[in-house]
Amino acid sequence: MIPRRDISLYNNLAPIIVDWIKDKKKKVYPEKFRAGLQEYLSSENIFLLGGGRQSFHLIFDNVPYESGSEIIVPNYYLKVLIPIFKSKGLVPVFCDIDENNLSNDLEDVLEKISEDTRFIILSHMFGICGDVDDFIAKVKDKKEDILIIEDCAHSFGSEYENKSLGIFGDFALFSFNYIKTLKTLEGGALLVGKKEYLKKIEKDYSGYEEMKKRETLKKVFYYYFLLLVLKTPIIRLLKFFLKNKKIKKTIKKIHNSHKKNWKKEKLSPFLSFIGNTELKSFEERQQKIKNKLETYEVNLSKKLLDERPSGMNSEYSNYFLILKTDKDSKIISKKMFSEGVDIAIEDEIMDLCVEDKNFKKAESVYDSIIQLPLYCGLKNKEVKKIAEKINKISR
Ligand SMILES: Cc1ncc(COP(=O)(O)O)c(C=O)c1O
Repeated sequence: MIPRRDISLYNNLAPIIVDWIKDKKKKVYPEKFRAGLQEYLSSENIFLLGGGRQSFHLIFDNVPYESGSEIIVPNYYLKVLIPIFKSKGLVPVFCDIDENNLSNDLEDVLEKISEDTRFIILSHMFGICGDVDDFIAKVKDKKEDILIIEDCAHSFGSEYENKSLGIFGDFALFSFNYIKTLKTLEGGALLVGKKEYLKKIEKDYSGYEEMKKRETLKKVFYYYFLLLVLKTPIIRLLKFFLKNKKIKKTIKKIHNSHKKNWKKEKLSPFLSFIGNTELKSFEERQQKIKNKLETYEVNLSKKLLDERPSGMNSEYSNYFLILKTDKDSKIISKKMFSEGVDIAIEDEIMDLCVEDKNFKKAESVYDSIIQLPLYCGLKNKEVKKIAEKINKISR
């Protein structure tokens, strides 16, 4: 089975643990990882957290807004994040997405902006983006005090106009969980672009506790097990059980349970150590990913390439290779799986947050987008095999 995700941490974890045991200066790693990220992203204002979603604490606890203020969120988004906005007294207002870049549809956003709009989530889904400058300029032109939060959970390593995504909005959140482009097993960061709130955020953050050793150990075991599932034929068994709605619900519950409290916590030294190690080889891996992308481009059918949602940085999406087909994506996923290529267990990454006929483009994307494996450890002959199969199945 060719895994859909980059599960390289499964192999890398043992040597990382050995290096960690040998290392005498364990406490310095959060600061080292932070410095590395600051350099990579060209921003001095990065805060390391227990997960990407913890960024919302730092933002909403320190930026003034009235209860009942609105936050515009793309309807093609991670549904579990919506209760977080509500818990902070915000009212989510959904917008449609742009089929070409899977990000917010600018026209719809402009229509949805009201007197109460205070925040907009600008998502860079799968590391692809739209015209970020134009989006921000038009939004601010319509209402100056709107704060834009770039969701870069999928886009560490992606660029717009030769600059890292995340530095354009007022804030940006990054996720470093076990299958993202940069991994710490679980973790994330907030980038603060809006200097006005920096001092307050710094003060608040200084009161956050570091993730406890026991918690870190639990996460290491849990994710190691998950990576094992993704790597071995156990995934076939899992896929079989997921057909049962009750089992699926229970598994989802277990998977989300450790995130439920989305505690205010700083990333632990060990997880920072993993991040620091991964960051050192990041550029080299990016180059290899670029090479896979080229192999895909040579081998995919013209029809699939022409219809690919490419956005503004098509040559450099490094999370998955995103394709659009005119067939039902679920059927394609099933066929690919039976041919030995995992392109989705279910689409566990993105959801339609609300099922409403007014979000036609989000619905169409949800039904027609497929995510092909794209990572450093993927062999070129595997890329060719995947391309051949998808060409045939999507015909
Ligand atoms: C689009 C998007 N935003 C935010 C997050 C939250 O990141 P985390 O799981 O690190 O809290 C995720 C997680 O996968 C995501 O996919």
